[in-house]
Amino acid sequence: MRVPERILGIETSCDETAAAVVEDGHVVRSNVVHSQIELHQRFRGVVPEIASRSHTERILPIVTRALAEAELSPADLTAVAVTHRPGMVGCLLVGMAAAKALAWRFDKPLVGVDHVQAHVHTGLIAEPDMPLPALCLVASGGHTALYLLHEPGRSERLGTTRDDAAGEALDKGASLLGLPYPGGPSIQAAAATGDRDAYKLPRTLLDKESLDFSFSGLKTALLYTLQPQGAPPRKSPPSPEEIADLAASYQEAVVDVLITKLRRAAERHPVRSLCIGGGVAKNERLRARLASDGRLNRLRLVLPPLSLCADNGAMIAGLAAIALRKGETSPLDLDAVATPQSGGKTKPRRRVRR
Ligand code: KG4
Ligand code: ZN
Repeated sequence: MRVPERILGIETSCDETAAAVVEDGHVVRSNVVHSQIELHQRFRGVVPEIASRSHTERILPIVTRALAEAELSPADLTAVAVTHRPGMVGCLLVGMAAAKALAWRFDKPLVGVDHVQAHVHTGLIAEPDMPLPALCLVASGGHTALYLLHEPGRSERLGTTRDDAAGEALDKGASLLGLPYPGGPSIQAAAATGDRDAYKLPRTLLDKESLDFSFSGLKTALLYTLQPQGAPPRKSPPSPEEIADLAASYQEAVVDVLITKLRRAAERHPVRSLCIGGGVAKNERLRARLASDGRLNRLRLVLPPLSLCADNGAMIAGLAAIALRKGETSPLDLDAVATPQSGGKTKPRRRVRR
């Protein structure tokens, strides 16, 4: 009888301590995530030292739970996968130490995985038969980029953000509006009762050809909408109705830019599917716009479940399955690397300067 391939995926690159077991590259047997949002909320961003300390406390219980929920022991695993780039090095090292210890103790192959590439490949966990090539949008707090996924394990970056990531723009916008961190979900909630046409906010599309993103001007426009330059300071904070309208208009501007760039990329490249990943891929308005877009919904739309969009261990195990099929494993002295595989620079993710 064939023994299924079972990979444990560990993720600690930012503020989620996560572990999951994935069978045969797409059957998610367990997917355990502990979010540190409460620890970082008052700083409105991730504090690296607090994040790595919390990972250290949580990693073993989280891995133990992922194995228990999958009803497996470490000896049953085919391999141990772990995010080794990009991310905050102190955070990456915690997950890597756990993964290396398990791999060494139980004599399993270790597979180091690129976190951004794991987001790019998430569509293949949700739909293993997703027709390729696929256009993939990765939008989170640290990254916003478009990729062409040619085949499993081979992708090409088409464009990336020149300043803020989409999630970062939502986090900063929420902060200006006095809404809680993280900004994406709180702007989405506030926008539910707002009018998205109430305020005219800019859509920065760069030049006509560009598939890059820029969100910093939008944040500044919101600031000046709240407090016009040269005007006397506001006497009272915006009303709940104003906040709802501002949130809806702001969210619409972010979504409009993402949709416009996806359309541009889909026109230029002969893709068969469109998939999304990263925390911003959880956004209801983005999902609704994709589903109703006459040009984009002609492609096979793969909108993974929310549990696979934000940072998680299942996507790490999923990409490791592809690497293993090609015989790619990592040495036990694998290094943690701050930047992504493509060599692109990573903005420090919402790091709080103190
Ligand atoms: O992928 P993720 O969990 O971590 C990073 O790699 O950054 O993404 C976190 C980001 C945050 O900026 C958060 O505001 C955003 O994803 N986010 C959302 C939603 N849920 C989380 N943005 C828009 N709509 C949401 N529902
Ligand atoms: Zn991520």
